[in-house]
Amino acid sequence: MGIQFKDVSFAYKGLKVNYDAIRHINLKIKDKGEFIAIVGQTGSGKSTLVQHMNALLLPSSGNVVVFGQNLPPKKKEKINYLRQKVGLVFQFPEYQLFEETILKDIMFGPKNFKSTEDEARVMAKKAASIVGIDESLYEQSPFRISGGQMRRVAIAGILAMEPEILVLDEPTRGLDPRGRNDLMAIFRELHEKENKTIILISHDMDLVSEYAKRVIVLKDGNLVFDGTKETLFEHKDFDSFHLDFPTPLKILKHLEKEIGIPYQPKYDFNSLLSYLKEVAHE
Ligand SMILES: Nc1ncnc2c1ncn2[C@@H]1O[C@H](COP(=O)(O)OP(=O)(O)O)[C@@H](O)[C@H]1O
Ligand SMILES: [Mg+2]
Repeated sequence: MGIQFKDVSFAYKGLKVNYDAIRHINLKIKDKGEFIAIVGQTGSGKSTLVQHMNALLLPSSGNVVVFGQNLPPKKKEKINYLRQKVGLVFQFPEYQLFEETILKDIMFGPKNFKSTEDEARVMAKKAASIVGIDESLYEQSPFRISGGQMRRVAIAGILAMEPEILVLDEPTRGLDPRGRNDLMAIFRELHEKENKTIILISHDMDLVSEYAKRVIVLKDGNLVFDGTKETLFEHKDFDSFHLDFPTPLKILKHLEKEIGIPYQPKYDFNSLLSYLKEVAHE
């Protein structure tokens, strides 16, 4: 088992006394082969949930077990081991760039986690190439490149640690459609070629529908759905989740209603188009 939540609740200490940002969460995530989307309205607890996955937050009650390790581990060094295994990319990760050069920034993680300077450099270069950061940029300042590139550099910094599980908190937020698709293609490749478990927080239901196999829905800190996307979009309580339908499903529902094309769920545009071509030729 990669990650397990056992009846986990968490309350931020502060003004809202006894207010649990996540409540009684039970969850099992495999260390390989999963592509999970976490969705829910703003404030539903998505970011709070994923920050438990590498011990940035510790439960107020309940247990989180990651790669067999109960959190927090007794030995402090184990935290580093764990943060290497579960790579967490924050929202707007580019805000956390800080080194003088792009390569140094990407090397920071692996250098911190045991590797020698030379090893860290090799790992950083590999990660840079995965996200499409060209060698010619290595010695440049991370603050003098475009926002999209900055985000890639920040993501490379996590990939350079070669995490087994990659957790992404709204990685495509604020990107244009092209940047969004390019980035998603990188995650898909990591998932398909290396069978990596990807956990993706997103508001973009088109993206969830196209990429995720499993979806977890949070509402007011409660886990209200955990299952395949196929089941989610047919769920009788779907409206109560306050989610949007993905565009291909909306189009297909519309076409059935307006011109009688039989509804068949298609989760991305290519499948939608193939289906419509099929229907047109009948
Ligand atoms: N650092 C914090 N201090 C106090 N409350 C917080 C903090 N971060 C988030 N919250 C509150 O916890 C709840 C869940 O927030 P969050 O996990 O960020 O949700 P989401 O990522 O789904 O938007 C919200 O009510 C939010 O206001
Ligand atoms: Mg959030």
